[in-house]
Amino acid sequence: MVADRTNADRSPQLRSGSVQVLVIGGGGREHALAAALTRDPAVNEVHAAPGNPGIASVAVTHAVDPVDGKAVAGLALRLGVDLVVVGPEAPLVAGVADAVREVGIACFGPSGQAAAIEGSKAFAKDVMLTAGIPTADARVCESRSDVTAALQAFGSPYVVKNDGLSAGKGVVVTTDRAAAEAHAAACGRVVIEEFLDGPEVSLFALTDGRTVLPLQPAQDFKRLLNGDEGPNTGGMGAYAPLPWLTEGFSDQVCERVLRPAVAEMARRGTPFVGLLYAGLALTAGGVKVVEFNARFGDPETQPLLELLETPLAGLLYAAATGRLDETGPLKWRSAHSVAVVMAAPGYPTTPHRGAVITGVEEASALDGVRVYHAGTTLGPAGLTVSGGRVLTVTGTADSLADARRTAYAGVDCVSFEGSQVRGDIAATAAE
Ligand SMILES: Nc1ncnc2c1ncn2[C@@H]1O[C@H](COP(=O)(O)OP(=O)(O)O)[C@@H](O)[C@H]1O
Ligand SMILES: [Mg+2]
Repeated sequence: MVADRTNADRSPQLRSGSVQVLVIGGGGREHALAAALTRDPAVNEVHAAPGNPGIASVAVTHAVDPVDGKAVAGLALRLGVDLVVVGPEAPLVAGVADAVREVGIACFGPSGQAAAIEGSKAFAKDVMLTAGIPTADARVCESRSDVTAALQAFGSPYVVKNDGLSAGKGVVVTTDRAAAEAHAAACGRVVIEEFLDGPEVSLFALTDGRTVLPLQPAQDFKRLLNGDEGPNTGGMGAYAPLPWLTEGFSDQVCERVLRPAVAEMARRGTPFVGLLYAGLALTAGGVKVVEFNARFGDPETQPLLELLETPLAGLLYAAATGRLDETGPLKWRSAHSVAVVMAAPGYPTTPHRGAVITGVEEASALDGVRVYHAGTTLGPAGLTVSGGRVLTVTGTADSLADARRTAYAGVDCVSFEGSQVRGDIAATAAE
């Protein structure tokens, strides 16, 4: 592949049909990324490892362990790809992006050291403190007496966070002091922090380590049940844009949060290259960071990529090669997109696998609907459930109300035994 520069705008232009991309991961986010990459006219072929049955319809899939850096780098070399895009946090924290860059291939995704901004809540707090980024006051606790003192100091509701990666199960927010103590004891090193009150917003930014390009804000729904009841999950739905946000929100967060974080990571000699995700709470005292993630969020990525008009491969390649300053402003469809997750029975604690899934093709045939696979597998019985979050159904339309109707029309086509679906994704915002 060759990146030509047009003299006119100096933007990095990828020659049409020249780019080969390898996507690492096998969830709904990776399905959406792979699909958006195939829509980019610069892209010739998309590969994925390990992928899933949905990804296999848009990419060539390879049975490679996504957290094995050597194996991923070897696959990238063998395929001769120009760009590797690492989707999930586990491979990033394990240093898969480092392994890919070591063999001379461009990689969209932070180094293992930079991914610590997601991999360690204590590290992220340290970055925020140094860079003056607004966040909840917090204490890192290593012992039982630290925990007791911190819970006492911040009071109820208690917020106790496991320091390391925990697949969405590391945080307990509770008014029950005993439950807070029990969670801390089960974790080891924890961050205990001030409770933040207010709606949450996700803001993603592409960065090459210097230039920061924010996407549109999105909102996800973390609780399992309608009305934000039930246990926390990886996310049960999302939508974008957020019509209720004040104008200039992204710029403000970019100035106060994203740019300072990227600058601080560079200052430390561990520049962050890839997608920086700020989870934000809109509190009475202003916007505060709940957490950083080192990768695209799932399921917010699914609706965001429905709306992004700028070709994705060019953007990710520019970020991976330190040339994001040459990309113009992002182009967005003036539309709304809603993603609804269909989860397995028993999710999030003990998802039951094996149910037969029907109706995916019917749903996908509807105008404005796309179905992204996550926990699915293809076997003798056809498509069956193989993981907690099974499918994400997106609906995209001119208004938020129509986008909701479209997404739920798609959901109505699909069925598997015991499916769990929230009925109120984006409902309040659409009213
Ligand atoms: N300080 C806080 N105050 C109130 N709620 C919080 C706070 N920190 C986290 N939460 C809630 O817990 C969820 C998970 O916490 P987060 O820090 O995002 O960890 P993770 O995504 O790694 O599980 C958040 O989305 C938010 O709803
Ligand atoms: Mg989170």
